[in-house]
Amino acid sequence: MSNGSEAMDIFERVREQFNYAPYPSTPLDFLPKNDSNYLFPYCAANPLYRRDGRYVPSEGLRILDAGCGSGVTTLSLALANPGAQITAIDLSPASVAVARERLDKYGYADVALHAMPLEQLPDLGQTFDFIHCHETLYLLPDPQAGLCAMAAVLSERGVLRANLHSQYQRHEYFRAQHLFAYLGATTDCDQETAVAIATETLNALAETTQLHARTWRGKEGREKETLLANHILEGDKGFTILDLFSLLRGAGLDLIDMVNWRHWNVRNLFKPNCDLPDYLQVAFESATPEQLLHIFELLHPVHRLLDFWCSPAAVATSYQSAGTYPPEAWAHATIHLQPMLRTEKFRTALDEAVTHGLTLDMRLYLGYTDPQSVTLFANSLLIFHLLWEAPLTFGRLRELWLQIHPFHPLTLAPQTLEACGEELLRLLPDLEDYLFIMIEFGAG
Ligand SMILES: C[S@@+](CC[C@H](N)C(=O)[O-])C[C@H]1O[C@@H](n2cnc3c(N)ncnc32)[C@H](O)[C@@H]1O
Repeated sequence: MSNGSEAMDIFERVREQFNYAPYPSTPLDFLPKNDSNYLFPYCAANPLYRRDGRYVPSEGLRILDAGCGSGVTTLSLALANPGAQITAIDLSPASVAVARERLDKYGYADVALHAMPLEQLPDLGQTFDFIHCHETLYLLPDPQAGLCAMAAVLSERGVLRANLHSQYQRHEYFRAQHLFAYLGATTDCDQETAVAIATETLNALAETTQLHARTWRGKEGREKETLLANHILEGDKGFTILDLFSLLRGAGLDLIDMVNWRHWNVRNLFKPNCDLPDYLQVAFESATPEQLLHIFELLHPVHRLLDFWCSPAAVATSYQSAGTYPPEAWAHATIHLQPMLRTEKFRTALDEAVTHGLTLDMRLYLGYTDPQSVTLFANSLLIFHLLWEAPLTFGRLRELWLQIHPFHPLTLAPQTLEACGEELLRLLPDLEDYLFIMIEFGAG
């Protein structure tokens, strides 16, 4: 950590920057209500399921938005978790004022908002079941102290989503920040002057100069927002996966998973059907999640954010993917639709696909699922349709399947309940693997 007065200085500069320009500058009219892709990381049920293998409804959950900015994330938390009790805090009073206006406009006047540093969260005297800290942790003078403050107000079985900027992916912006600090634009000037100096400098650079080519081209019309969020972002720092795990250990937290975990699969970085070199094969078999994620970022640093879910280290992960359960376990399974898929937009596409036997590319609705497109056929989509109103036990789903498919499509012989069960056992584990559905075993 930097020395005390330097830390205080960064702290004040960060506050000044976000008072000058509350982030994001998204108009109050923007309501991300119909976008399952966008809302997915805001939904508390997702990390709770990935840790416990249980579906937890949002009603009554105590949720904290730490570093709420202009309130877009807070509004998203409210939309993704109906009936939850939401509190939001931010260092910048101007940002909190915009957040208040945004939440009131959509009928969330009951969200409690406080202008305060997240390092002082324990002073609130409350604990939370889900803490959400988006695009904020990397700005703190001492991210370890910030993470510890959040861990201190996390309930015993709570979950936390936070993220850090990647040192490798963002190295060009970190160089730009060093440049403008070196020129005195960010250390000795007010925000407006810093924006002006950075704009003039970047505009004056030759198209082929790397800083221009990699960070400035194509930003026309969005110069100020781009600069404030990148080249002259106060307090910004880069982290590696090793830094992330060290911060987690320091705060007594364990990783549940990366929020976009399917995008971090190191095996996908090799040619399809290629036999891995022996030493890699052996290394991967014994590697920890930390090691696999670190190898991924060294090979392919494409993710701007190290975006993670974590929880108190004392809470064991009991989640097991559905494909690992034996057939007899399914007799006691209850199946839920991914709550964020329940949007009008998805409903319309689903009805159309089920009615006319079409396919859907699920990446349009849940991009966290896979870097490649995920095409689902009518049979799988029918499962979403059946789960739309309420969760179903495996037994009930199998009965409905028989009603819909009374005859074998090739032989036209009457279908059996067992055959329907086998068909569902072929379809359900894949859907669960992408978190399109959640399956609770032992709950049916
Ligand atoms: C990039 S914005 C992100 C806002 C919001 N979470 C989002 O993603 O839209 C970062 C926010 O963190 C706030 N912030 C920075 N340091 C903070 C601290 N120590 N305590 C609380 N908030 C802080 C800033 O004021 C700013 O509003």
